[in-house]
Amino acid sequence: MSGKIRKVVVARELLPAGEQLLQDHFDVHSGGLGAGRSELLELVPGASAIVADPTVPIDAQVLAAAGEGLELIANFAVGYDNVDREACRRAGVLLTNTPGVLTNATAELALGLTLAAARQIPSAELNLREGLWSGWNPSDYRGIELSGATVGVVGMGRIGLRYAQLMAGFAGDLLYTSRSVKSEVEQRFAARRVSLEVLLRESDVISLHLAAATENHHLIDREAIAMMKPGAILVNTGRGSQVDADALASALHENRLGAAGLDVFENEPGVPESLKDAPRAVLTPHIGSATFRARDAMAELVAKNVISVLDGNGPLTPVSPA
Ligand code: GLV
Repeated sequence: MSGKIRKVVVARELLPAGEQLLQDHFDVHSGGLGAGRSELLELVPGASAIVADPTVPIDAQVLAAAGEGLELIANFAVGYDNVDREACRRAGVLLTNTPGVLTNATAELALGLTLAAARQIPSAELNLREGLWSGWNPSDYRGIELSGATVGVVGMGRIGLRYAQLMAGFAGDLLYTSRSVKSEVEQRFAARRVSLEVLLRESDVISLHLAAATENHHLIDREAIAMMKPGAILVNTGRGSQVDADALASALHENRLGAAGLDVFENEPGVPESLKDAPRAVLTPHIGSATFRARDAMAELVAKNVISVLDGNGPLTPVSPA
């Protein structure tokens, strides 16, 4: 096989579903989960493709270290804010991601966070485990009922659409923001496309499903939070950089917001103390795509992208150049 000797670098680790496929075709070098920047720079010289993930910054220095033979960055994620797309474009290096295969997993986690935040399931469970439950009490643990709630989906891509479908069971109104009209969503769910401001002012539940782009940095800031209904729930399974964590924590402390369910944070794995201390915040460690099915499918898609590009057949799921 002509590709046998080509070098492919896995910056950290690819699951066996993808790793095995790569091993069958290439000379694979994996940094391992603990590998950092210096290990990556040592591994990449001579690589034809690099498999990255959201924790691995790929910039001009990495591309230069890999050298002229580098053809592809295959990101093990749908998001690609860890990759300098402009540097890839300048170096003539392709970029792929893993759309589609993690849609259900991520939307299902967003649904789970919505329910967990609305009913404060984690803290209620913790109290029980810690022996703090003194018996049924009519005023304890009262949460927010979702039936009939107006749901606001910020970013109606694949994951936003799946979340909207799952939330449709609660039979409330559906609002969404999107660059373009989504007629299918409007017809199926009587959804209304509105501005972010209207969505923030009218929704009981707001879920973020946006690409990590610079224009979305702190999209949900103090001002945006001030527009939200008292008692509203904010859910974020997209990227942490889209929410001003301190502003959110203050709104929870001051009881201006009902609850928050967050799976992503601006400087992962760091989580701001203000959020950890905030009441009614449900926090999970970036597990949106963490189902067996989704992660295996992502790993396989990463490997198939590498094989397809290095065999000269082009990328299967390309990210458009910056
Ligand atoms: C995970 O965060 C992803 O973007 O797939």
